[in-house]
Amino acid sequence: MILITGKSGQLGWELRRALAPLGPITAVDATELPLEDTGAIRRVIRKLRPTIVVNAAAHTDLDNSEKQGELAMAINGAAPAIIADEVKRLGGGLVHFSTGCVFDGVKKSAYDEGDPPRPASVYGESRLAGEAGVRGVGLPHLIFRTNWVYGVRGKNFLRATLETAAAGLPLRESNDQRGAPTWSRLVAEATALVLAQTGAAQRPDALEDYGGTYHLSAAGETTWFEFARAILQRAPAPLRAYEAQVMPLATREGPLRTRRPANALLDCTKFTETFGFALPDWRESLDLVMEEW
Ligand SMILES: NC(=O)c1ccc[n+]([C@@H]2O[C@H](COP(=O)([O-])OP(=O)(O)OC[C@H]3O[C@@H](n4cnc5c(N)ncnc54)[C@H](OP(=O)(O)O)[C@@H]3O)[C@@H](O)[C@H]2O)c1
Repeated sequence: MILITGKSGQLGWELRRALAPLGPITAVDATELPLEDTGAIRRVIRKLRPTIVVNAAAHTDLDNSEKQGELAMAINGAAPAIIADEVKRLGGGLVHFSTGCVFDGVKKSAYDEGDPPRPASVYGESRLAGEAGVRGVGLPHLIFRTNWVYGVRGKNFLRATLETAAAGLPLRESNDQRGAPTWSRLVAEATALVLAQTGAAQRPDALEDYGGTYHLSAAGETTWFEFARAILQRAPAPLRAYEAQVMPLATREGPLRTRRPANALLDCTKFTETFGFALPDWRESLDLVMEEW
């Protein structure tokens, strides 16, 4: 059985769909498995006895993580190791998702897995602690770091942009942060392909040959400003006109308090060389997402 946490999140929902052909799935939300509660994590995993846990749950709000540092550290920093510990006792494996916010974003080129993490926010620190916790337990595992995740479901930049345009409100987006918008569905489908290819859904110890940390994001790069314009270019007629009104902004002029990495680009060469495929350019996915929207 595959246990998916964060079942209603952007990624969690897509994982429920993409992993369905691999075997029975149980998906849980924060009420069923509150990650700040160590006892609950242990109880739920002991009761459900999953072969693999796919942990898509996290305290994902960067700004709130600054204010709720202890909670962010419990959910993002401590919980992954507790999950890993319980899964290890069952002889299972863990797929854990993390973020490029473990880097400070000052590097000029895309970050690869060998770059030393240096978080610039409480959020990034909590995610880095979570990764270290999983590695420390020493079970068969994969850690996928991704960035700029969006889709038609959940709270994300694409939906916020379309809603702001529909409300006729001003859109000012930073033009000095670089990243690759990554469709939640493709991260989920890449996870499914990896689990199928390696046979890990049935034999989690297969991950021992592949285990470790991988960067997994769309190809290409853009800025939030250009991404907003690209979204509106692909929107239906009344919203499309709004594209010309999107204004560029320097991050330091913007409303967000927490520091985001100026360079959020992830080098996915290790993933591609290991598993033999890559996520396409972000524009190709955006075409599909906007058709679906
Ligand atoms: N979104 C991005 O741009 C982005 C970028 C880089 C990495 N990632 C990583 O990708 C993964 C999935 O992100 P996402 O975009 O799908 O996030 P999301 O849409 O914000 O979903 C997060 C999920 O975590 C659950 N959750 C929050 N607090 C919890 C708690 N205390 N106990 C149990 N569950 C809790 C939420 O459950 P409820 O709905 O029940 O509250 C929600 O389902 C995360 O590891 C995230 O860090 C995302």
